[in-house]
Amino acid sequence: MPFIIAIDGPAASGKGTIARALASHFGFHHLDTGLLYRATGAKGGDPIVSARDLTPDDLQRPDLRSAAAGQAASRVAAIPEVREALREFQLRFASQEPGAVLDGRDIGTVICPDAQVKLYVIASDEVRAARRAAELGSDVADMLNELQQRDRRDSQRAAAPLRPATDAIVIDTTDLAIEQAIATAIAAVQSAR
Ligand code: C5P
Repeated sequence: MPFIIAIDGPAASGKGTIARALASHFGFHHLDTGLLYRATGAKGGDPIVSARDLTPDDLQRPDLRSAAAGQAASRVAAIPEVREALREFQLRFASQEPGAVLDGRDIGTVICPDAQVKLYVIASDEVRAARRAAELGSDVADMLNELQQRDRRDSQRAAAPLRPATDAIVIDTTDLAIEQAIATAIAAVQSAR
């Protein structure tokens, strides 16, 4: 049976960095599930049809990391049929040997509730906004606004809202250097293996 690491948390909490590091450390496959929602939103048209017809090329669009693509993603992500259309791809990805790391909002709660390790990565709003603004070269106050609006939508929606699984290990990266956050995550996985 493949080993599954589920990582959830709000935008720019550090979950993507931790997910990539764990995948490389343990030799596992990695899927940034936010990309599926970003690509669906960016494709335009009927979001349910776009999610069903998503192709690998759609995941390569150059504009998917922008704040606008994040907002579009969070709007289509509230539609249950969109989530259902993207579910199967995620399940297939998670079944790969020797293991997989998936990061998103509902991996530990909905997509892979039986994952061997569940992490919930958080950081203060200010730190998350500063990190993402530096990454995208944008204004910190605008970014804070954008992240808070998106987190609110993601946590308050009826379909698979953002929340920690009851058995998730919480990692707060507010005051952690990247290396410390990664070391904490590796230790959590090692103790579950
Ligand atoms: O993680 P990222 O910021 O790329 O995600 C973009 C948006 O996609 C999120 O704000 C959220 O609305 C949605 N998403 C989701 N479930 C996931 C991953 C992302 O609803 N598993």
